[in-house]
Amino acid sequence: MKAAQAWRIGMKDNHILPPPRHRAQLKKPTWIIVLVSLVCVFLVFAYVYPLQHSGACYIILSSSCKTFSSWLPPPTRQLSDDEIASRVVIKNILKTPSIESNNPKIAFMFLSPGSLPFEKLWDKFFEGHEGRFSVHIHASREKPVHSSRYFINREIRSGKVDWGKISMVDAEKRLLANALKDPDNRHFVLLSDSCVPLHDFDYVYNYLMYTNVSFIDSFEDPGPHGSGRYSDHMLPEVEKKFFRKGAQWFTMKRQHAIIVMADSLYYTKFRDYCKPGMDGRNCYADEHYLPTFFHLLDPNGIANWSVTHVDWSEGKWHPKSYKEQDISPQLIKNITSISESVHVTSDEKKETMVKPCLWNGINRPCYLFARKFLPETLDRMIDLFTNQTMF
Ligand SMILES: *[C@@H]1O[C@H](CO)[C@@H](O)[C@H](O)[C@H]1NC(C)=O
Ligand SMILES: *[C@@H]1O[C@H](CO)[C@@H](O)[C@H](O)[C@H]1NC(C)=O
Ligand SMILES: *[C@@H]1O[C@H](CO)[C@@H](O)[C@H](O)[C@H]1NC(C)=O
Ligand SMILES: *[C@@H]1O[C@H](CO)[C@@H](O)[C@H](O)[C@H]1NC(C)=O
Repeated sequence: MKAAQAWRIGMKDNHILPPPRHRAQLKKPTWIIVLVSLVCVFLVFAYVYPLQHSGACYIILSSSCKTFSSWLPPPTRQLSDDEIASRVVIKNILKTPSIESNNPKIAFMFLSPGSLPFEKLWDKFFEGHEGRFSVHIHASREKPVHSSRYFINREIRSGKVDWGKISMVDAEKRLLANALKDPDNRHFVLLSDSCVPLHDFDYVYNYLMYTNVSFIDSFEDPGPHGSGRYSDHMLPEVEKKFFRKGAQWFTMKRQHAIIVMADSLYYTKFRDYCKPGMDGRNCYADEHYLPTFFHLLDPNGIANWSVTHVDWSEGKWHPKSYKEQDISPQLIKNITSISESVHVTSDEKKETMVKPCLWNGINRPCYLFARKFLPETLDRMIDLFTNQTMF
């Protein structure tokens, strides 16, 4: 009864509408539709062609341009089949809880042209901690002569390494692959022949074993030594806004080492389009591939600073090399007391970004290792290291 009444009321309302008004009403919506369509076309145009590149900015006041563009959601790009496949594999590896090990170890991976001048120092570092670490050496030029029992027969099959070329990344991947063969290795550290430890083994072991992030250096440098090295050939997978820079000396947890092994999509982009002389610029894959890769795929899983200290304060092409006379308890104390990471952009602004070094949310000293130490510093470093009050 009620439903019928309602229906009738509805009918009545329809009948009430005076027929002559229909024509007048048709005209109004047409104008509204035309107006809305024009605005839509304009919006789509402005959206597809970013404002700074189109004439759209000249149409509306330039001051309102910025606010206008900020209304728009970030454009969502259709991912390619390879990107979808890559992301699903990486997401799954990152979500899979790691297998517990009864004997968790840290893999120390040395990247060197030949012999390691600090083997004797590392020998003191490792002594008494057998079973909690493994050593892997990639010697690219000549077979090393060893002075420590922990380094004998630890060379992996190596390849030639050209400075700044993809062969550097290949050597890093070769070390990771070999170190991953040991299922007890939970954290992986990349070191050079000029690196020294700044703390004793237990400190380093606990710092790395119980961190919830990998220490991969990554920051945005809009200058010529940062995004200035980017090439549009890396599109669509690597957009310029995601391009990052960082020192190559990383430490990473096992899941991260595995996703580096699993990646070929992003690796190929950097191999082919980030190299010396690319588009008339010099791009160095070892400074950009991993910082960009992790920024894209697991930004919250990395610390964004490297635990290996290096002194760029002289502002030269190469960092400061420590000589024998530079080595003092004060130098080591100075480096080990730093608890903020500093990044400086390479543009004219030389913008300095300072961030506290957070270890599982706690502010702690940033550095476990340091470079570049000349071989002549060995004896003084051993003296300091064996002084129990120092390390
Ligand atoms: C590292 O940087 C990324 C992006 O800038 C950020 O999302 C992430 O939280 C940073 N990591 C840490 C541990 O702060
Ligand atoms: C240690 O740091 C202090 C304060 O920044 C500085 O004055 C001193 O020269 C540094 N010493 C060494 C050996 O680096
Ligand atoms: C690491 O631990 C800190 C402090 O508990 C937390 O804020 C952060 O989200 C954690 N990061 C990851 C990747 O689990
Ligand atoms: C050990 O280092 C302290 C300073 O940290 C110094 O005073 C002491 O003389 C050193 N001992 C030896 C044996 O070198």
